[in-house]
Amino acid sequence: MITHIKFIIIVTNFIYEIGHKFIQSSLILLNILLTMNMSITPELLVSSVEQIGFVNDPVDPRLDLYEEIKSLKREKNAILLAHYYQEPAIQDVADFIGDSLGLSRQAAATSADIIVFAGVHFMAETAKILSPDKKVILPDLNAGCSLADTCPADEFQEFCDRHPDHLVMSYINCSAAVKARSDIICTSTNAEHLMRMIPESQPVIFAPDRNLGRWLERTTKRKLKIWDGVCIVHETFSERKLLSLKVEYPSAKILAHPECEESVLRHADYIGSTSGIRKFAREDEGTSFIIATEEGILHQMRKDSPDKHFIPAPPESGCNCSQCPHMRLNTLEKLYNCINHELPEIAMEESIRRRALKPIERMIEMSEGVS
Ligand code: 13P
Ligand code: SF4
Repeated sequence: MITHIKFIIIVTNFIYEIGHKFIQSSLILLNILLTMNMSITPELLVSSVEQIGFVNDPVDPRLDLYEEIKSLKREKNAILLAHYYQEPAIQDVADFIGDSLGLSRQAAATSADIIVFAGVHFMAETAKILSPDKKVILPDLNAGCSLADTCPADEFQEFCDRHPDHLVMSYINCSAAVKARSDIICTSTNAEHLMRMIPESQPVIFAPDRNLGRWLERTTKRKLKIWDGVCIVHETFSERKLLSLKVEYPSAKILAHPECEESVLRHADYIGSTSGIRKFAREDEGTSFIIATEEGILHQMRKDSPDKHFIPAPPESGCNCSQCPHMRLNTLEKLYNCINHELPEIAMEESIRRRALKPIERMIEMSEGVS
């Protein structure tokens, strides 16, 4: 028996090694071809993107990528949608910068032929669900989301099946397959508004963010069945450090995203989505603000109000964790390659897309006028 198991392990390792070496050598070959400026076939490019998730074409450092991206967009009738958590250089070249709701509305309404999504995978997937006839491209397919990752579709399906009398509201930060199993989608901008529209007698499942779910329980005073997912960025903000920052800047207002833990939210002067936080800081008479969300948003806030002081909320450790590691996989170089080669492209099964579309359309209809 033990000899059999050993044999299986040796054969499995052997197959793995061969496969791994094959992938490595095709990538090396591709890089050599690219550096030698030799023409690579579209098939080779597609297969490399399938393996590594982005176009790995060395970019000439002398190129002015801002101008190049602008002219590629014009030439290809492409629209560049960027989330607030993208690096400043990407925000600066975008046609529209916004929160998840604003970006979905733009994706549904655009007349462009190509939607270039500078954000994470679930956002680009939502754009494809809403605009199936358009080519939707994302600079790096590896740009996922910890919330979407903590909610696998099969487990979610079982969870919902165990509570058949519950209406399923899912936060937009989830996969197309999870959306397909949901009755309504929400974003942090409209979650409270939509929850209040559901009759109190109707039991509700809320997924996948437990912090947003608990915040909704407190604001709407109803009990929800909450999926246990968290955002790795928002859960790292530290109450202890926030309070010592408040001692240093006593007049600073704390503005927090509802994906933060309750220990942080209870000190906030304002809780809302990224666009809500931006609007509050722009319109409030205060002059200094501590911002408990991904620090990419500070770029627009500083542009809106150059005289105000914005302080990123500190994470518990001295790490750079207030930058989303998924969002930050997108770089200007990858974005340029993505528009230039129109890769990687978002694709999904049509049956899932159709089922996922309904709860998204319901959200858009029911939150008309909400921003
Ligand atoms: P909003 O921009 O919709 O507030 O969402 C924040 C977020 O975490 C996106 O991943
Ligand atoms: Fe997902 Fe959090 Fe990154 Fe937003 S900040 S994309 S919720 S991991």
